[in-house]
Amino acid sequence: MIRNSAQLKHQRERLAPPSNILSSFPIIERIRNRAKALNKRVVFPEGTEPRTLRAAQRLVADKIAKVTLLGPIDEIQSSASACKVELDGITLEDTFKASFRDKIVCAALAARKEKGLTQSQAEELVNEPLIFAALMVHEGIADGSVAGADKSTADVLKAGIQMIGMSKGIEFVSACFLIATPTDSPMKGRNFVFADSGVIPDPSAEQLVSICKATASTARVLLVEEPKIALLSFSTKGSAEHARVDKMRRALELIKKEAPELNVDGELQLDAAIISDVAARKAPNSAVAGRANVLIFPDLDSANIGYKLAERFGGASATGPIVQGLAKQAHDLSRGCESDDIVNMAAIAAILSAETE
Ligand SMILES: CC(C)(COP(=O)(O)OP(=O)(O)OC[C@H]1O[C@@H](n2cnc3c(N)ncnc32)[C@H](O)[C@@H]1OP(=O)(O)O)[C@@H](O)C(=O)NCCC(=O)NCCS
Repeated sequence: MIRNSAQLKHQRERLAPPSNILSSFPIIERIRNRAKALNKRVVFPEGTEPRTLRAAQRLVADKIAKVTLLGPIDEIQSSASACKVELDGITLEDTFKASFRDKIVCAALAARKEKGLTQSQAEELVNEPLIFAALMVHEGIADGSVAGADKSTADVLKAGIQMIGMSKGIEFVSACFLIATPTDSPMKGRNFVFADSGVIPDPSAEQLVSICKATASTARVLLVEEPKIALLSFSTKGSAEHARVDKMRRALELIKKEAPELNVDGELQLDAAIISDVAARKAPNSAVAGRANVLIFPDLDSANIGYKLAERFGGASATGPIVQGLAKQAHDLSRGCESDDIVNMAAIAAILSAETE
């Protein structure tokens, strides 16, 4: 089914142009270009979902990644035909019939050995595309998976946690968003990573350490800058006292002990973290204040609300949830995502997979 370059060029020309996200947010274009150079394979468990199908076509036409779609093949084909998506150059796999299904069943058994998974339970379990995709990534048949246009975040996360497992040195899975600001906004095109905006509702200080370490790694790869990490609060360096402020201070203490190489500071209010004039007044001795590019929020409420404020009030582009802390790449999508977002998540999965090889 692989097409030659003339056919792919023809397909590219027939596709609608990508949205103006590429020209407005240069980091997104750079990420797509970096993915192109890697030629990784991304598997999509929601193979019949229309936005996923459109994204798959774009990924292949623009050579951003190789694509596998999972699902009953006739259903993928009829959904593609209804959406006017050409499947040439895209690999289709049915979880019930794939030639490497036995390998996937063995991998499921190994992943859940300690939980007592039986052979027949494993045979049943891998029929679920989220599980099958996570195991394809685990086995190196794909470099990353992307799902969540239909499936819940909890289901996407559990498949990754249970089938792929944790990255060395990270205890908890979390998620971040890449936030790119417009050049004509007060943030003048600065790029940020926000976390945890997807997984742990009320992280303890210990869980914030995991979030911080994993976000530093993600940010280093995506921003191609050294992470300058602010632990956010409603207090800056003792300006207020509360148990919630104490949590961020305790997290700072633990991070400094466990990961002394990280450039991290807190507790900082958002303005002190990112605006140099405010930082000069509120936290003059901080090496991070005013220059932070990684924002660690105290909980999922503030992180989720925070990235949506940046997006809706500030016109920023928000790409995620980028799942972090797993040994390999299994990413989530917002259910309100567009096909362009899915393309970007696949490109991010490709880039991050090159770092976890
Ligand atoms: C991650 C999440 C699914 C776990 O839910 P849960 O109710 O704790 O799930 P379970 O107790 O069934 O745990 C499932 C497995 O994941 C593990 N686990 C749960 N959270 C984890 C984390 N953050 N990191 C690592 N492992 C985790 C559990 O230990 C368990 O492992 P096991 O099956 O090997 O024993 C849950 O935190 C969640 O849904 N988060 C998403 C919140 C959300 O809806 N976000 C969307 C928009 S903001």
